Amino acid sequence: MTHTVLVTGGAGFVGSHACKALHGAGFVPVTYDDLSGGCEKAVRWGPLERGDIRDAARLRDVLARHRPVAALHFAARIEAGESVRDPAAFHAVNVEGTRCLLEALQQADIASCVMSSTAAVYGAPQTAPIAEDHPLRPINPYGETKLAAETMLADFAARHGSRFAALRYFNAAGADPDGELGEQHEPETHLIPLVLQVAAGKRAQITVYGSDYDTPDGTCIRDYVHVSDLAEAHVLALRHLLAGRTSLRLNLGTGQGWSVRQVIETAQRVTGHRITVQESGRRAGDPPALVADATQAQRVLGWRPQRAALEMQIADAWRWMTRTAAVA
Ligand SMILES: NC(=O)c1ccc[n+]([C@@H]2O[C@H](COP(=O)([O-])OP(=O)(O)OC[C@H]3O[C@@H](n4cnc5c(N)ncnc54)[C@H](O)[C@@H]3O)[C@@H](O)[C@H]2O)c1
Repeated sequence: MTHTVLVTGGAGFVGSHACKALHGAGFVPVTYDDLSGGCEKAVRWGPLERGDIRDAARLRDVLARHRPVAALHFAARIEAGESVRDPAAFHAVNVEGTRCLLEALQQADIASCVMSSTAAVYGAPQTAPIAEDHPLRPINPYGETKLAAETMLADFAARHGSRFAALRYFNAAGADPDGELGEQHEPETHLIPLVLQVAAGKRAQITVYGSDYDTPDGTCIRDYVHVSDLAEAHVLALRHLLAGRTSLRLNLGTGQGWSVRQVIETAQRVTGHRITVQESGRRAGDPPALVADATQAQRVLGWRPQRAALEMQIADAWRWMTRTAAVA
């Protein structure tokens, strides 16, 4: 029997890759997305239901018609810098929207929900790598709203006997290895696509914020995890919950950190294009290093990133960018 899964934010970067992985695993993904940040063309592995997660009536109608067995919840406002400028919008979607979704799921007797969380729930790291028991002290409204959503998920689960998985991604990167999907944020703020836009001649230079950090080359270090590996982790977490096993809070990263300079050098090698760099001062709230201890995800879900190598992540993103440019 084929099971349907509701995917909020399924038209976005990570959600669309998750829909492809769900389809490959025999599920039917029903994307629920208001297309405020996602792209209709990325919805290719199941139906699209256009709607806002804060619209309770629309959610009820979609759940009644499709009868999903579970939900994957990606829909959110995602840009940390923007959350400082407009915290109310982030609380409205990430907290109030999640509440609305959870109530609709509970009313429809859907007991399993996997939610996108983030390394931003930890705030400034006190250890490296960061494990799940690291203190939760977000330093911007984005991280605060994601932590509030995680807490609400746990409270709903305790009250209604449902199960959840909060998956805390580090830096999502790469693109579908088959070239069918990729990253299209507007405006783009993520390092790898920005660097590749310079390589492609769409942007004059890449600004490096801070080269005096206490790291081997002075630039910030981040843990980049391939979006297809993230998608696979969602399928594993979904199966775990559907099997009636315990709720989860898990880091998703490779456990390896790469500096901004290493990303730029690798992108030059992969693309064969020179990338012009402009150095600038540090940005407030940027920790020197954010690297995941993802051993729990390995132990509990058997998840092992297959495309962890930075070259591979950049090559997949480059193939997507050049192919999309060729088609556009
Ligand atoms: N990309 C990353 O590096 C990263 C890292 C950590 C966590 N996350 C989390 O992963 C999730 C997906 O991120 P992404 O990079 O794919 O973002 P994205 O912007 O590409 O996707 C988000 C999707 O949610 C939809 N959406 C937004 N508000 C909505 C609303 N009110 N109702 C219905 N749909 C709505 C957008 O249209 C979009 O399709 C987010 O929850 C984000 O916080 C992402």
